[in-house]
Amino acid sequence: MNFRNTRITELLKIKYPIIEGGMAWVGTSELAAAVSNAGGLGTIGSGSMDRQLLTQEIRKVKILTDKPFAVNIMLLNPHAPELVETVIEEKVPCVVFGAGNPATFLPALKKNGTVSMAVVSSENLAVRLERSGIDVIIGEGMESGGHIGEVTTMVLIPKLMDCLSIPIVAAGGIADGRAMAACFALGAQGVQMGTRFIASKECLVHEEFKNKIIKAGIRDTVITGQKLGHSARVIKTNFAKKVCQLELTCPEQAEEVLIGSLKRAVLDGDVQAGAFMAGQCSGLIENIEGVGDIMEKMIFQAEKIFCSGQEV
Ligand SMILES: Cc1cc2nc3c(=O)[nH]c(=O)nc-3n(C[C@H](O)[C@H](O)[C@H](O)COP(=O)(O)O)c2cc1C
Repeated sequence: MNFRNTRITELLKIKYPIIEGGMAWVGTSELAAAVSNAGGLGTIGSGSMDRQLLTQEIRKVKILTDKPFAVNIMLLNPHAPELVETVIEEKVPCVVFGAGNPATFLPALKKNGTVSMAVVSSENLAVRLERSGIDVIIGEGMESGGHIGEVTTMVLIPKLMDCLSIPIVAAGGIADGRAMAACFALGAQGVQMGTRFIASKECLVHEEFKNKIIKAGIRDTVITGQKLGHSARVIKTNFAKKVCQLELTCPEQAEEVLIGSLKRAVLDGDVQAGAFMAGQCSGLIENIEGVGDIMEKMIFQAEKIFCSGQEV
């Protein structure tokens, strides 16, 4: 198995097939540039941005790295159409769509030479997107941090392999080379990580957020928003438990307290009213490390598993 020369490294012109998942509030230009400089694909998370802010962040990344990077666009963001225009104007090498169907944007991106990828939790949407001309599908299992679907990575990736011929990247529950090797065994050509990169030296979130990930066990996340139609995996804090209860008794109030809750966790480390979005793999992460070390170790571990069959 080759982890350094895959359809993803070739298409994106990167050294390692490791993508920083787009993360609203978390995915700053600094973190994106660090991941790209270390050989992966760094991603600006534009979920909370307007056109002006995204332009600033793109220009900062261009100063910090000469390597390829991506912009993640959440289609629920009312600014999404302008953000796509910005990506095109600024000649960003790659765009990753989340939360919807980006089909209408694909022809313009293709014309511009932008690689387009979409995060999906359903094989049906993936098939439609392949027909619409998307370049890469990122299959995200429900172990993930942030907004999630219903199917695990272990089941979703083989299903996508059965349905698609374009390259597939696996996301959800990946924090080390063992999971990376497993995803490649399922047919993935790359991996995307969110939680592991939050617990990195270069990530600028509040220290409390990183500490919550380091301290969490594998059962210390919970799904909020299930009853509201927008499930999200977060660290099981008192706030998260309160949200789950409110969903049963007073859904309107649950919606209300969730507004701005990710921002409060990321910027203020607010344990009273913040939603610390993170995946189940928090329970596997024990140290805050540099993104370069995280990626080098992953590749080393994944290669060792395939080359020698050794337990590592
Ligand atoms: C704090 C946080 C914020 C996220 N925000 C977004 C987002 O804005 N857009 C998106 O497509 N995915 C978002 N995600 C999902 C990640 O991009 C990635 O797919 C996911 O974290 C992978 O699972 P993992 O956390 O187990 O590594 C977010 C995840 C986290 C943890």
